[in-house]
Amino acid sequence: MSASRTQVGIIGSGPSGLLLSQLLQLAGIDSVVLERRSRDYVLGRVRAGVLEQGTVAILRRAGVAERLDREGLVHHGVEIAAGEERRRVDFSAHAASVTVYGQTELTKDLMHARDALGGTLLFEVDEVALEGVESERPALRYRRAGVEHRLECEFIAGCDGFHGASRKAIPPNVLKIHERVYPFGWLGVLAEVPPVSPELVYASHERGFALCSMRSLVRSRCYVQCALDDDVAAWSDDRFWDELRARLPEAAAARLQTGRSLEKSIAPLRSFVAEPLRYGRLFLAGDAAHIVPPTGAKGLNLAVRDVQQLADALIAHYSEGQDDLLDAYSATALRRIWRAERFSAWLTSVLHKFPGRTSFDRGIQLAELDELASSAAAQAAFVESYTGTPL
Ligand code: APR
Ligand code: PHB
Repeated sequence: MSASRTQVGIIGSGPSGLLLSQLLQLAGIDSVVLERRSRDYVLGRVRAGVLEQGTVAILRRAGVAERLDREGLVHHGVEIAAGEERRRVDFSAHAASVTVYGQTELTKDLMHARDALGGTLLFEVDEVALEGVESERPALRYRRAGVEHRLECEFIAGCDGFHGASRKAIPPNVLKIHERVYPFGWLGVLAEVPPVSPELVYASHERGFALCSMRSLVRSRCYVQCALDDDVAAWSDDRFWDELRARLPEAAAARLQTGRSLEKSIAPLRSFVAEPLRYGRLFLAGDAAHIVPPTGAKGLNLAVRDVQQLADALIAHYSEGQDDLLDAYSATALRRIWRAERFSAWLTSVLHKFPGRTSFDRGIQLAELDELASSAAAQAAFVESYTGTPL
């Protein structure tokens, strides 16, 4: 058994774990990141790609926004279609915007930044176990290349996503779970074709929800709502594009260019909040703490805010001996998280076709979308939630 020490032991090298280790190192705090998967696997995952301006600001502070500032696409509006009706929500009237930049690219930038600063990232680590999280000296035990290790820590950050080990270290009589599982999924396709429109198009259609997003001016990321038991293999590229076209307003459908898929996958939709986010010296951040359905594009933004808050709390502990931010972490983060949960669940409920939907349910959905199209107050509320810009 080999033994080592660090100040903050971080489980998971997704955006949360990588950004936390970066912000801590910039403040002179030592950390070690333990990741179950290989570096290539982590770098290859395709995820969402809409960043709030506050998220971009945190990434700049972390020194990882150089390429994002060059290549990110700044959007000043979004289109929300209901059947044939197309409505644009304008962000610029509220001095708000979002930046479209794939999480895959952000992960690459974070990984390069960690390597450049000599950060310790350990990949292909198995059987991570948390020990003594209630004590002053918690530890992470793990196995790597057949050798057992014990990493003594002062704090542990659980950044290991929804299926990670850290949340399970909170005793069941302490941990509360709040959850909604949706009866459908999203089938996503990445393809080397120009986007149908310069802005994202969210479509609520009789056949189900669809979304046209992008990664660049020559690369599209599109989704259609699908059944939970759908098999990706049953969705040829042609079938996907035909279904997407059928759900878009005619003008957008006419502009749709199709091509071979570079990636195709089905993701279930879930709303999930764990509580509390702190247990002893363990702190949860990102998908380990909460899941939002992708409809509002909030997952990555929430994770980045959690990490900023946790980094600031740890910095206050180490530099000033102040623990009030650490003590407030869970309650403060949960308030912010619940607001994003509300928005994501609402947008999901308005745009999707739920099994057993009645004509009354559809009428309510269309009325919600009408209100968004015609009420300045409804638009302001939407812009505030979607862009994360306080108006
Ligand atoms: N031990 C070590 N690593 C683990 C373990 C474990 N037991 N369990 C999971 N991991 C790793 C996963 O392999 C993954 O690389 O933890 C990482 C968690 O990363 P993400 O799932 O990406 O979660 P997070 O970093 O919180 O990212 C926030 O924003 O857009 C959303 O869901 C999207 O991933 C995104 C999230
Ligand atoms: C994406 O680009 O993958 C994307 C964009 C907006 C969403 C969800 C996903 O709401």
